[in-house]
Amino acid sequence: MVNVVFIEASGNRRDIDVPEGEPLMYAARDAGVVGIIAECGGSAMCATCHCYVVEAADGALPAPEANEADTIEFMGNEPRENSRLMCQVKATPALEGAVFEVATGRS
Ligand code: FES
Repeated sequence: MVNVVFIEASGNRRDIDVPEGEPLMYAARDAGVVGIIAECGGSAMCATCHCYVVEAADGALPAPEANEADTIEFMGNEPRENSRLMCQVKATPALEGAVFEVATGRS
């Protein structure tokens, strides 16, 4: 398991354990992290799993693929340079302790 933190819009911090190799979205959604809706089921098409990377070890996050970047740009709520779709970020040991702020703007 890889432990990461999600910060909900309220400021509430949620510690979430994610099985190694699994996209972070599933564990966050299943744990009821507010704002992680995942309407498209993890296909990088809805941006309802959009988060900002607040803290992560150098090199822990590979650059987004083109389809992820496009979905963030066109559908993401207030896209920023540190925006990512949690359905496209897989849990790896390098992400242990990483912190993400929910950016979907919906609950
Ligand atoms: S679940 Fe739809 S973009 Fe991630």
